[in-house]
Amino acid sequence: MNLTVEPSGQACGARVTGLDLSQDIPADLAAEIRAIWLEHKVVAFPGQRMDDDALERFTLSMGGFGEDPFFAPIAGRNNIAAILREADETSPLFAENWHSDWSFLDHPPAGTCLLAIDIPPMGGDTLFADQQAAFAALPEERKEQLRGLNAIHSAKLAYAPDGTYGERDEGRSMAIRPSEAANDCRTHPLILTHPETGREGFFSTLGYIIGIEGMEQSEAISLLSELAQWQSREDFVYRHQWEDDMLVMWDNRAVLHKATGGYEGHRRELHRTTIAAFRG
Ligand code: SIN
Repeated sequence: MNLTVEPSGQACGARVTGLDLSQDIPADLAAEIRAIWLEHKVVAFPGQRMDDDALERFTLSMGGFGEDPFFAPIAGRNNIAAILREADETSPLFAENWHSDWSFLDHPPAGTCLLAIDIPPMGGDTLFADQQAAFAALPEERKEQLRGLNAIHSAKLAYAPDGTYGERDEGRSMAIRPSEAANDCRTHPLILTHPETGREGFFSTLGYIIGIEGMEQSEAISLLSELAQWQSREDFVYRHQWEDDMLVMWDNRAVLHKATGGYEGHRRELHRTTIAAFRG
């Protein structure tokens, strides 16, 4: 098969055609897709008639399943969650803040796959911000200051019982499972050298990052807030518009992402898997 790769023309992202992901994915094709993904950071595969079996096969071929805390999987599957909003839902949008999926884990997922199930006629775009471009655009002196910092990550603001998706969150159709485990903290370097490409970039952002090791809290929050503005600057962003029968896979080590609204009165559902951390 001859793959065609069309870059988005924005900060990152490409559309890949010329393959059928409903079929088994031979190792050489998987390696080709992975290389395109590492280069473009977000890849969209339009026109794919995939079911949940195909989504699982694809995820396994890209590196296996990642760990998925705080979500119950869909019925009959262990590794697929539904990103779902019913047409009449009024709870705040899910994931409308910039983040890198599960960056608070010891081994955060290398990537995430989202498969379109029910796409509204307008709105519901997903935004991606290229964190390697954001870091590269800083002055050398600033880069050097940031390289030595360790960020403290936690899911507490989102998934602890008193968090955004905790006990006060009502009327949400997604199967979110808040827990005290969300209060755990782990550190990761603020600037990650990508384990597969060697490129440097910001890893995650304020929200899942709740502090900086060894830095006074108000100073850390002020630095993280300033960086968060920079990390999501318009020129680092790719706006992804969904289509029916589309699969998207992104690299959590290279981009941030966030959901957007604009589809009030319409249902939106995507099936999501995460790709295990790279242990090359
Ligand atoms: C997510 O952050 O996993 C969801 C993104 C989206 O709904 O567009």
